[in-house]
Amino acid sequence: MSNRVLQFFRGIFAQGPDINEQNMINDLLPPKAQQAFYSMTLADQRHSLNVLESASQLVQDESQYDSIALLKRCCLLHDIGRGPHMGSFKKALAVLLDKYFHSWAQKKGQVSGEAFYQDILYRYYNHPQISSEMLRAMGLQQEANIVLRHHTGDISRLSDMESTVLDLLMKADEIN
Ligand SMILES: [Fe+2]
Ligand SMILES: [Fe+2]
Repeated sequence: MSNRVLQFFRGIFAQGPDINEQNMINDLLPPKAQQAFYSMTLADQRHSLNVLESASQLVQDESQYDSIALLKRCCLLHDIGRGPHMGSFKKALAVLLDKYFHSWAQKKGQVSGEAFYQDILYRYYNHPQISSEMLRAMGLQQEANIVLRHHTGDISRLSDMESTVLDLLMKADEIN
């Protein structure tokens, strides 16, 4: 739980991408994906950049790894399904509800809806699917397939290269 507390405060004080990071985002992402990235909260933008940073460190030798751009796009975009309103307070609320009112929270989060708790919990539980659908609509099929699995780690129907990208994404996500 202490990790969560740290995450909460990091989220509150999070800053958006600096100029170098903005240039990297411009290079890596097509315009619609950039829009989706920048529509996340600053906390989620910073989280995604940190995931990218950690994933890059996990890749020992970038020249050996031909899918580095794919991996980086997945890092930047894996949580876009959390949407523009999932600030630190809402995220913390979802974590607490999931922990202490698990079955109620799961039931509430089953279908999408505008109501306060329903929206938070639906996005909390289903953002990999939402992110994936958004990516598919942008024509980013490979990214969609990998991001869909970033909480389950299910590698069925992924190529070896895609499984490696998923593994690195999940390890990097875990430490951020
Ligand atoms: Fe996620
Ligand atoms: Fe994440």
